[in-house]
Amino acid sequence: MRILVLGGDGYLGWPTVMHFAAKGHDVMAVDNYQRRQIALETDSEALIPTPNLDERAQVFYQQTGKKVEIKIGDCADMLFLNTVVKDFQPEAIVHYAEQPSAPYSMKGFHEAQMTLQNNLGVTFNTIWSVLENCPDCHIVKLGTMGEYGTPNIDIEEGWIDIEHNGRTQKFLYPRQAGSLYHTTKVLDTDLLWFYVRTYGLRVTDLMQGPVYGLSTEESQLSDDLLPNFHYDDIFGTVVNRFLVQAIAGVPLTVYGKGGQTRGYLNLMDTLNCVELAATNPANKGELRIFNQFTEQFTVNELADRVHRVGNSMGLDVKIKNIENPRKEMEEHYYNAKHHGLIELGLEPHFMTDDVLAAMIEKILKYKDKIATRKIMPRVKWS
Ligand SMILES: NC(=O)c1ccc[n+]([C@@H]2O[C@H](COP(=O)([O-])OP(=O)(O)OC[C@H]3O[C@@H](n4cnc5c(N)ncnc54)[C@H](O)[C@@H]3O)[C@@H](O)[C@H]2O)c1
Repeated sequence: MRILVLGGDGYLGWPTVMHFAAKGHDVMAVDNYQRRQIALETDSEALIPTPNLDERAQVFYQQTGKKVEIKIGDCADMLFLNTVVKDFQPEAIVHYAEQPSAPYSMKGFHEAQMTLQNNLGVTFNTIWSVLENCPDCHIVKLGTMGEYGTPNIDIEEGWIDIEHNGRTQKFLYPRQAGSLYHTTKVLDTDLLWFYVRTYGLRVTDLMQGPVYGLSTEESQLSDDLLPNFHYDDIFGTVVNRFLVQAIAGVPLTVYGKGGQTRGYLNLMDTLNCVELAATNPANKGELRIFNQFTEQFTVNELADRVHRVGNSMGLDVKIKNIENPRKEMEEHYYNAKHHGLIELGLEPHFMTDDVLAAMIEKILKYKDKIATRKIMPRVKWS
């Protein structure tokens, strides 16, 4: 297939590009290095320095003999994106190109405005460049489980049947996000749903939980092919952060009571989910939604696991509950369905002690690069 990956320089984007290319697909990666720029501005650079996209593509070619095309530019600029889509004629677009940090989006007006305009702008341009150039192309969009929030009822897979005064209809499951970033994802879903039902686009919206990991089949070929791995409060996801804290001797920072429950998945499963979605496209006029995670944990459970595995490896891991910088429920009901991707064939890689130990081994190589000043939360919701 001809697959266009928007946000191809990112934590998920680059491994996805390699994964599809390794399977023999024609892949083009697009990025404007926005995350690298924000990381510089906020003192949140990744743990392991990553070469730029052209350099990574070169290393990947040397290792595998597979070529990927690279385009550097802003997908929120319609002239740029439209030209890319027109020339490449993708059969699937994997849309990762958004500002993905909740804390950054809550930092102030400028950051909130940028997140809103960028994320909605890229989604809107993706829709229109598909409509104008390749209306059959399947858009695989990364949403987040955070769109649902933490409702006191089971979370369905995107849609819910509502019965009201004796009549029933299927609606998008109610959404109530906990940050401006997550709210842009809610708005993205609404935008996609409008264009799907009005113009017959084919879209898969993947409600993904927090991802952890840095090893994939291809990233193991060379450290220059590793994804950008963040452990800071801005871009770091919780498992990645805890593992680095364990190594740096900083107590694991559990926000508030630590009863916050979320669905998590291994980076390798993200790649498999996106591949399953792309190779089994949604129908025309269908907004297909999958909840993309493999297992649920509370933050306390995650901290306990890292504590246990780290100490068994000779680290001195401690846990500390700190004031929660976010506005969120710290103890709540959480039961989210996630059948769709399993039914398509997903075979999960679960978070075993061995998986955590292998990550610790990998990160230990970069222990000297850990800057502990980047660890404590620097952005508060109020
Ligand atoms: N990592 C996770 O745990 C997670 C969980 C749920 C959802 N997601 C979603 O998955 C997607 C990828 O996340 P990630 O962790 O790889 O983030 P990331 O920041 O590492 O990757 C996003 C990439 O998109 C690029 N980008 C942003 N705006 C762009 C624009 N206007 N034009 C071109 N490129 C642009 C950035 O430079 C970056 O390289 C995001 O949409 C994110 O919201 C991620």
